[in-house]
Amino acid sequence: MTEEAYARAEADREGFWAEQAERLDWGRKWDRVLDWDNPPFAKWFSGGTINAAVNCVDRHVQAGRGDKVAIHWVGEPVDDTRDITYAQLQDEVNRAANALTELGVAKGDRVAIYLPMIPEAVITMLACARLGAPHTVVFGGFSADALASRIVDCGAKVVVTADGGYRRGAPSALKPAVDDAVAKADGLVEHVLVVRRTGQDVAWNESVDKWWHDVVDAQSNEHVAELHDAEHPLYVMYTSGTTGKPKGILHTTGGYLVGTSYSHWAVFDLKADTDVYWCTADIGWVTGHSYLVYGPLANGATQVLYEGTPDSPHKGRWWEIIEKYGVTIFYTAPTAIRTFMKWGRDIPAGFDLSSIRVLGSVGEPINPEAYVWYKENIGGGAGDGAGAPVVDTWWQTETGQILISPLPGVTEAKPGSAMRALPGIVADVVNDEGESVPDGSGGYLIIREPWPAMLRTVWGDDQRFKDTYWSRWPGVYFAGDGAKKDEDGDIWVLGRVDDVMNVSGHRLSTTEIESALVSHPKVAEAAVVGATDDTTGQAVCAFVILRDSAGDEDAADNADIVTDLRNHVAKEIGAIAKPRQVMVVPELPKTRSGKIMRRLLRDVAENREIGDVTTLADSSVMNLIQTGMNTSDD
Ligand code: WT7
Repeated sequence: MTEEAYARAEADREGFWAEQAERLDWGRKWDRVLDWDNPPFAKWFSGGTINAAVNCVDRHVQAGRGDKVAIHWVGEPVDDTRDITYAQLQDEVNRAANALTELGVAKGDRVAIYLPMIPEAVITMLACARLGAPHTVVFGGFSADALASRIVDCGAKVVVTADGGYRRGAPSALKPAVDDAVAKADGLVEHVLVVRRTGQDVAWNESVDKWWHDVVDAQSNEHVAELHDAEHPLYVMYTSGTTGKPKGILHTTGGYLVGTSYSHWAVFDLKADTDVYWCTADIGWVTGHSYLVYGPLANGATQVLYEGTPDSPHKGRWWEIIEKYGVTIFYTAPTAIRTFMKWGRDIPAGFDLSSIRVLGSVGEPINPEAYVWYKENIGGGAGDGAGAPVVDTWWQTETGQILISPLPGVTEAKPGSAMRALPGIVADVVNDEGESVPDGSGGYLIIREPWPAMLRTVWGDDQRFKDTYWSRWPGVYFAGDGAKKDEDGDIWVLGRVDDVMNVSGHRLSTTEIESALVSHPKVAEAAVVGATDDTTGQAVCAFVILRDSAGDEDAADNADIVTDLRNHVAKEIGAIAKPRQVMVVPELPKTRSGKIMRRLLRDVAENREIGDVTTLADSSVMNLIQTGMNTSDD
């Protein structure tokens, strides 16, 4: 990418995207680059046909790059590694596609994936894409209930899972949650395909369960791929919104692949022949989809896929992996960087990280201290000694692809700023009236023009799609984030302006956690806020009023219930949503119209002086809360 691309894209945006689409292999070429006749329902590359798996795998083999390593897989147990070439990946994806077909999966059917970070996760996603069977990957940290609701919402007939995975040196189970979810989904799931990863004992339901090695290994490694319509659904990824029920974000095939492959190449300055790329995201999040599976593989990159955590068996594991594989492009989240800062610079300094030439950040605003630490300590060996360029990439599950980011070697970066919309993307910051704010002011982050990898709808709920993203200002995509433009017009994303929290770069809904809390028999009312946290960015803090004992301030009685409630949230939603703190309170601060004033609760959770209470129905409530509070933060 060069500076000139910005102007070229601005002069002819559709022409620019058509040019990017040429980077892929199409069956039939599209008739129209963009059909925006019926906004907000976009069609990109309509009339075109394409197969995402063929673009991610087969075409690299056909081009003579079959022996190139696609994935350096690093298991959590030390020395449990596998290098998978593009040719091997092709064999495996074909076998998996044949296996899914044998299990009755046809084009259009949905497949749920609940797997650890093992090659089978990538293989299954690509096998689904090959068949045109949309996948829905559910992060392994989600509970059986969360898995069940996703299976039911998108009507998945097959679930692919494993007996378990490894975490910090020990096997942990996955299959029991699937068993539970399958039972809850009430006959919907016809087959569960189980990868044997840890060898732990699992309960076996003969009518649905099948071992991966029994079904997949026996298949032919040949599979003729069908070309799918550019707008054929590729996957559904659930994400939390401001209401209780997660939204199934639908991404389709052609535009998504154009958007992810283009941005992966442009933002990371990818040189596919020589780079070794590593994105640390889990496959259960959109980052894993766009920048671990579809973007890098469409670009024919060589990448690392790591199963474990950064601290096992020692706190230098990530740096050891970078040294071993010569990683050149590294993409992670600010929460991880802040954790490493705490552990100290000596740990990365013990490894040779000189291969690094580009660093990426995603998931939440990166604070300047973390940015500088990252550049100097992880990217320090690069170039002139000033440290590798850091790209702070802003995007969302909904956007599918990076929309705002500096470009290494093109844009000068400022620590903490996502800088500028990519060539082809039109972003702005607007005020309440939807008017563009002048440089030096703040407002809401919006996207003015459609982009190829944009979500197409909320699965099964077009109205919610319109209401959530397109109703605030007509014709404009509202992301839910606040942002400011600095004096140079560069964009600084400030964070959510709605009731969505960002914990370790993962999106959590306050309402969803509140619903989980009030589903506990002892809870009368609950309010949740995201309080600032040094490591995780935000942390979940819950305020609850208990049923029988509302008004009872006996701390000893309440200690057990606090533990209970934290576990209850983990069971309902998943361990990632477990509140850092649960405070038992006699009242909640409400306005006269009954709206909970979370701003005041945030003041309490962050140990600040309480702000303006004049709009409270009962202004003495805050005193009650502060004096009658029981907290737990184990
Ligand atoms: C929300 C989207 C994109 C994949 C990971 C999260 C926040 C994301 C940045 C960034 C400031 C960021 C926003 C956004 N966010 N990246 N570089 N700077 N904020 O995906 O779960 O869909 O969350 O994450 O608030 O709206 P997600």
